Amino acid sequence: MLNTTEVNPGLEGVVAADTRLSSVDGQHGELLIAGFPVETLAPKASFEETVYLLWHDTLPDIDRLAAFRHELQAARALPPATLELLHAAAMESIPPMDALRMAAGTLSLPAPGLVVSDAQATANAVVARFPTIIAAYWRLLHGDPLVDPDPQLDHAANFLYMLTGEIPHPERTRGLETYLNTVVDHGLNASTFTARVIIATGSDLVSAITGAIGALKGPLHGGAPGPALDMVFEIGEVASIDRVLRQKLATGERLMGFGHRVYRVRDPRADVLAVAAEHMYQAAGDMQLYTLAKAVEERAVALLAEHKPGRNLQTNVEFYTALLLHGLDLPTELFTPTFAISRVVGWIAHCFEQQALHRIIRPQSIYHGPRDRQWVPLTER
Ligand code: ACO
Repeated sequence: MLNTTEVNPGLEGVVAADTRLSSVDGQHGELLIAGFPVETLAPKASFEETVYLLWHDTLPDIDRLAAFRHELQAARALPPATLELLHAAAMESIPPMDALRMAAGTLSLPAPGLVVSDAQATANAVVARFPTIIAAYWRLLHGDPLVDPDPQLDHAANFLYMLTGEIPHPERTRGLETYLNTVVDHGLNASTFTARVIIATGSDLVSAITGAIGALKGPLHGGAPGPALDMVFEIGEVASIDRVLRQKLATGERLMGFGHRVYRVRDPRADVLAVAAEHMYQAAGDMQLYTLAKAVEERAVALLAEHKPGRNLQTNVEFYTALLLHGLDLPTELFTPTFAISRVVGWIAHCFEQQALHRIIRPQSIYHGPRDRQWVPLTER
């Protein structure tokens, strides 16, 4: 047995899994998704192609892709109890990530007209229903009538349609697909590790993804893009960048959208999303916010270099996520839930890998508490 004397509270550098799903090279800023550089895959693939690639380790041909699209389209409707729960959550104005976490737990229930017979069917149902949950919840929160999924639309377009009631322009669908492809998997990040820990106990897929949502929600993981955009809005104009950023650093605040546990250079996903965001803002004919964000990024990286010399804190994925999703008119409250629409695919793929190992994940801790306590009866304390 391993005799552990050194504690590594953040598990940096600890390798806990073999995977064929994604490779994160933090020194060189390279991300491979199932063998493809993220820059190649993300702007080209439909989201369904990316899901198929991760789950089956090959790109689908035309027939397989059509069949897979159909399977996902057929699984979009929610179990009645999920809708009831979303109604109750909306009455209490529960934040969307919490509503998603609660609703995800109900996905073990059957939905009308769909037989969930095995793990693959469960996986399809979970992925197909995440956008339905998020769009339905957003509309319930605002007292708007629900929009049924449109079986003619693919995953990304259908999400935007269910949110707004309008069929999205192909340019916007492409922007969302590029985003979903970019963040679909990323090594053993916190939420993926959570999913693997849960499934490794012999638990089920719905439990694993529900726990992973809890991990994704935190501001140090998937909860950063909202605050990153808030920061750009708070700055408001180029002339205020330096003052606001310096003030934040002086008061010990972290600049959201910068720094990464693994990347020691610029997060390659930031580049992919910056290009997609630029297209989006150019198409909309208003580059003001994009230009301001670029200036904020440049100054933030420079100030972080002064603040933490030698640490090389660079732009991470969340900074341009915020800009891209805002360009798609998604409200900030839906940034992290939209991240979950994509990352749930990676969680599931990792769960399948972990299940094949049949090995519980169980690290150790070193006890530092007292060893000689005397028991005092309740009446004498
Ligand atoms: N702003 C200011 N200071 C920072 C930042 C930042 N964005 N990031 C790191 N630092 C500082 C830390 O305060 C720390 O200082 P200390 O040594 O005096 O305590 C030092 O740099 C080293 O940082 P760590 O926290 O050790 O870096 P770690 O690898 O643990 O954290 C993390 C990475 C959590 C992403 C961090 O950089 C951060 O909080 N960034 C802001 C939040 C964010 O953008 N999160 C999204 C990450 S991407 C994703 O999860 C999808």
